[in-house]
Amino acid sequence: MSSPGYQVIARKWRPQTFDDVVGQDHVVRTLKNAIARGRIAHAYLLVGPRGTGKTSTARIFAKALNCTGGPKADFDVNDPACRSIADGTHLDVIEFDAASNTQVDKIREAILDSVAYAPASAKFKIYIIDEVHMLSPGSFNALLKTLEEPPPHVKFVFATTDPQKMPLTVISRCQRFDLKPIPAELIVDRLKKIAQAEKIKVTDAALACIARMADGGLRDAQSIFDQMISFCGNEIAEPDVLDVYGLVAAEKVAELAGALAAGDHRKIVAIVDDCDANGRDLVRLLADLQALVRTALLDAIAKGGRSELLGASAGSTGSPQAMTTEQITRLLDGLREGEGSVKLGLAEKINFEVTLLKAVEASRSRAIDSLIKELAALADESPAVTAAGDGSEKKKD
Ligand SMILES: Nc1ncnc2c1ncn2[C@@H]1O[C@H](COP(=O)(O)OP(=O)(O)OP(=O)(O)O)[C@@H](O)[C@H]1O
Ligand SMILES: [Mg+2]
Repeated sequence: MSSPGYQVIARKWRPQTFDDVVGQDHVVRTLKNAIARGRIAHAYLLVGPRGTGKTSTARIFAKALNCTGGPKADFDVNDPACRSIADGTHLDVIEFDAASNTQVDKIREAILDSVAYAPASAKFKIYIIDEVHMLSPGSFNALLKTLEEPPPHVKFVFATTDPQKMPLTVISRCQRFDLKPIPAELIVDRLKKIAQAEKIKVTDAALACIARMADGGLRDAQSIFDQMISFCGNEIAEPDVLDVYGLVAAEKVAELAGALAAGDHRKIVAIVDDCDANGRDLVRLLADLQALVRTALLDAIAKGGRSELLGASAGSTGSPQAMTTEQITRLLDGLREGEGSVKLGLAEKINFEVTLLKAVEASRSRAIDSLIKELAALADESPAVTAAGDGSEKKKD
């Protein structure tokens, strides 16, 4: 039974100040500067994947604007105005969920009819519209005029995961900020801090595993962490997370990537067999493999055309095999090509194997155009080749 005061980690750990927001420094810095310089626009659009801090940032911004003695970026979280914004009870900070209020009547009622009235107690009337892309075309049209020239006491903050679905007329009237997927290291750091505060013992490998699954979303990471605590109690290790979510251990993924790099068909099939027999999620494994190969691709680009990352993780004896940028690109391409069939679910294992084997073949084959280029380069280097038959060039010296 949950105690009445219990809150899930994601809610309990909602960032309350700008400095508490993880991994969105570019957004935070710009907003803080705007406040410090008194250059506050009338409409902001926060765009980003789910669970990366849009709603949190919108509320923090509202606090900075409406705090006692504001606007100021370093407000006191215990200021009554800030507390009521955090609780969602502030009269002048109106949160509107566009997903459940798409019709134009709703937006009239909640926003357009009230914008002209002065704020009840604070400096600004702030409308936070979440999932704004869900508004109907009629609602967007109704909003346009107010958005163009709102009364000076009105500020809009829109949040969306899907800006492509918004009319450009609306987007162009806003200052847009793009929140990014949060890097795994920062997710791990945040979870460590939470674990410490919540007195949970969790290994670094387990946290890395959770971060891997969360794909840049901090809410997702925290929800998974919450679930693991329910499942395991106060001690969590990597195998627990792997078992609950059907993940493959990082070393095993690396080993499989190494087998792909080495073109070791037998090993590939053996590892897939083992993963399948242990009930591992092959769709997830494919995603993990792709992430690893992509890292190798970036490594090859950074190092001028070759990477040993995949070969080095083969776990095999002998020196690591380097792969060229082209080979890695083909491997990655092959892995992506098979994604659809693996996700279909039918004959998942076979499709997975075929995808891996095809990707290996693709990475080992050479493109005709690159071959032609190489031959042409060779011909340029040795004029004797082009002058074949004549032989006079050779005899010269
Ligand atoms: N950048 C972040 N820094 C700190 N915590 C974060 C961040 N992003 C998400 N979180 C955590 O996830 C929870 C949800 O974040 P938030 O509501 O801000 O996400 P969102 O981007 O609005 O997501 P959605 O697209 O699903 O609405 C927060 O309560 C917080 O615990
Ligand atoms: Mg949100």
